[in-house]
Amino acid sequence: MSRLTNKRIVLGVSGSIAAYKAPDIVRRLQDLGAEVRVILTQGGAQFITELSLQVTSKNKVYHNLWDKEAELSMGHIELAKWADVILIAPASANTLANLTAGKANDLLGSVVLASDAPILIAPAMNQQMYNATSVKDNLTTLKQRGVQIINPEHGVQACGDIGEGRLAESDEIAKQVGLMFQSNKLNGKKVLITLGATIEAIDPVRYLSNHSSGKMGMALADACIESGAQVTLIIGNISTPISEPSKQISAISAEQMYQAVMENIDDQDIFIACAAVSDYSIKNPKNHKIKKSDQTLTITLTPSKDVLKAVCNLPQKPLCIGFAAETQNLLKNARNKLKNKGCDAIILNDVSKDDFGFKSDENEVIFIDQKGSLKLAKNSKQKLGRKIIEIIVDKFYK
Ligand SMILES: Cc1cc2nc3c(=O)[nH]c(=O)nc-3n(C[C@H](O)[C@H](O)[C@H](O)COP(=O)(O)O)c2cc1C
Repeated sequence: MSRLTNKRIVLGVSGSIAAYKAPDIVRRLQDLGAEVRVILTQGGAQFITELSLQVTSKNKVYHNLWDKEAELSMGHIELAKWADVILIAPASANTLANLTAGKANDLLGSVVLASDAPILIAPAMNQQMYNATSVKDNLTTLKQRGVQIINPEHGVQACGDIGEGRLAESDEIAKQVGLMFQSNKLNGKKVLITLGATIEAIDPVRYLSNHSSGKMGMALADACIESGAQVTLIIGNISTPISEPSKQISAISAEQMYQAVMENIDDQDIFIACAAVSDYSIKNPKNHKIKKSDQTLTITLTPSKDVLKAVCNLPQKPLCIGFAAETQNLLKNARNKLKNKGCDAIILNDVSKDDFGFKSDENEVIFIDQKGSLKLAKNSKQKLGRKIIEIIVDKFYK
């Protein structure tokens, strides 16, 4: 997995002469797998055209807080929520001052305030400006608030001065953004994740399955890989690209998934059962296509083996996290599942909604364990994946 695969980056480009390097920064981020949306400040637009940034980012460039069309759907809030990270490069002295003061008088300031995404800032300015007490103070304040600063370089500047203030190299900026997502929280841990839908053959042509896309499981896998874990994926039928786990096994039917899990569970520290495994399998699937007739056709189903329960009952069980896809009596059903299966936590998702859950890139879940429940509001599955892994680390490894 590239370090920024599936990551959504809002790049703020402000009024520094170095803004002409912004398309290159966009490219470097894309090379690492990121999707980039650019906010161009009024100052930034003096140094680089909207068109260059639109072409390189392959997205509309955002510049106007008062865009009536975009704000029909609260565009600035949408953009703030969309971002996994906000990078401001180059960051002018003026933009640094605005951010420090918490100003929301332009689109970039408003998005920064409305977002919970981490912020990285790459200042670029004349060396005298960079060494001004007010700029230094602003950078110190921003750092204290958790903003990460990508230090400028020393060298010859556009104005002819020699000193500190040149924008960091694009590769270095992209690398720093990539490192934002790396941690060692699960270093040395082995995690086994099942994901996707199972397929139960009725005959060689028809099957019984469900709408699971595997996106939530893959987001969890990404978050585990970023946290340093060794990840094994047991993959059913999915419609999402596969990240780069340590090991991957294809398991199409519920029985295959059960076998694959049991063969690989021994030395695992964490088991995340995210696959939508069919509760029932077809009794006596046919070897040939069933021919159409006027007669009623009865297909007999038999209960499939319960993968999660089997792992929870192992004498040396790993930490077991299950998923409950429910359409009614959500909390009650999820709590019953937590108890009946004997797992450490259940992640409940309501799959009756059209705008999140199955197939969607977004989800809304409730993390339930013995001590209580925690609602994680609707967000991208990638963000939720990282949040869920953070919760698991906080609750079980601290
Ligand atoms: C030719 C020229 C070059 C400039 N270069 C920089 C620069 O490199 N860094 C900086 O902080 N400001 C620079 N400025 C000043 C900013 O463009 C100015 O403060 C502007 O208001 C910044 O707006 P913004 O922060 O909203 O983008 C420059 C101004 C001019 C006219």
